[in-house]
Amino acid sequence: MPSFASKYGPWALVTGASAGLGAEFARQLAQQGLNLALAARRKERLHDLAHELSETQGIEALALSLDLAQADFLPTLARATDSLEIGLLVSNAGFSLTGELTELPLERQIEMLHLNCRAPLILSHHYGGLMRQRRRGGLIFVSSIVGFVPTPNWTNYAGTKAFNLFLGEGLAAEMQPYGVDVLTVAPGHTRTEFHENAGIGPILPMEPAAVVSQALRNLGQTSLVVPGSGNRLLVFLPRFLPRRLNARISGLIVKGLQGLAS
Ligand SMILES: NC(=O)c1ccc[n+]([C@@H]2O[C@H](COP(=O)([O-])OP(=O)(O)OC[C@H]3O[C@@H](n4cnc5c(N)ncnc54)[C@H](OP(=O)(O)O)[C@@H]3O)[C@@H](O)[C@H]2O)c1
Repeated sequence: MPSFASKYGPWALVTGASAGLGAEFARQLAQQGLNLALAARRKERLHDLAHELSETQGIEALALSLDLAQADFLPTLARATDSLEIGLLVSNAGFSLTGELTELPLERQIEMLHLNCRAPLILSHHYGGLMRQRRRGGLIFVSSIVGFVPTPNWTNYAGTKAFNLFLGEGLAAEMQPYGVDVLTVAPGHTRTEFHENAGIGPILPMEPAAVVSQALRNLGQTSLVVPGSGNRLLVFLPRFLPRRLNARISGLIVKGLQGLAS
């Protein structure tokens, strides 16, 4: 059986690698022997992680400090990675805003749309296109369990995660004939900086290590993974309820999470 590195190496590009799930993807991919291009805004954190992983795992790692919500991020990123064979893209960077859509600043919501949706589209078009030419590689999209249900107080965020779900599942079928594996991972609450930034409290969070190892185990085996049996139940049950009721229930859950944080 071909090794992980021979299928998805020699380089992986991980977005949102300065924290949380992205940093954990970087750690586990380094253990698999992949070289890493680590992208996010916080330069120092990326440099520290790149240094640590190249010292401990004997891989090459690059820190690429850039804002993926900016309109012109691709030429900069493409220049920095042109000479590298990126065999795996982990499109992970994202954030959420909590509150009623008409009360939240529109500019920040558009920024979220750019980071959570526009960036994965551009990245998968560019790096996925190169993988298609090579007839090998992998794309991982990070969606969420809220991508399955309309979620008041997270209306726009849930919409962005539904976009990732459809982008990933559609591409999985399109890329299959070219030998490129596409996986969408839809985590539930996970212990990262995400909740602090969103102003909500997590309930029974999973550890990033467990989420990432389930994702990497499933790459090339299936097109969608929801880590954790509780999360799989949360995604499964709404199928039996009217959508209108789903939205009310998910809205109450987000309100409860806001209460936990205050
Ligand atoms: N944690 C959860 O409960 C949970 C559940 C479901 C889905 N998710 C999804 O998982 C993904 C990772 O989130 P996380 O939980 O690991 O959150 P996190 O700890 O807050 O990490 C978010 C990452 O995204 C990067 N990022 C944010 N804005 C950026 C920008 N404009 N340009 C480039 N990078 C940017 C951050 O780096 P910089 O600030 O340095 O730029 C950071 O590395 C997200 O897509 C999120 O929607 C998380």
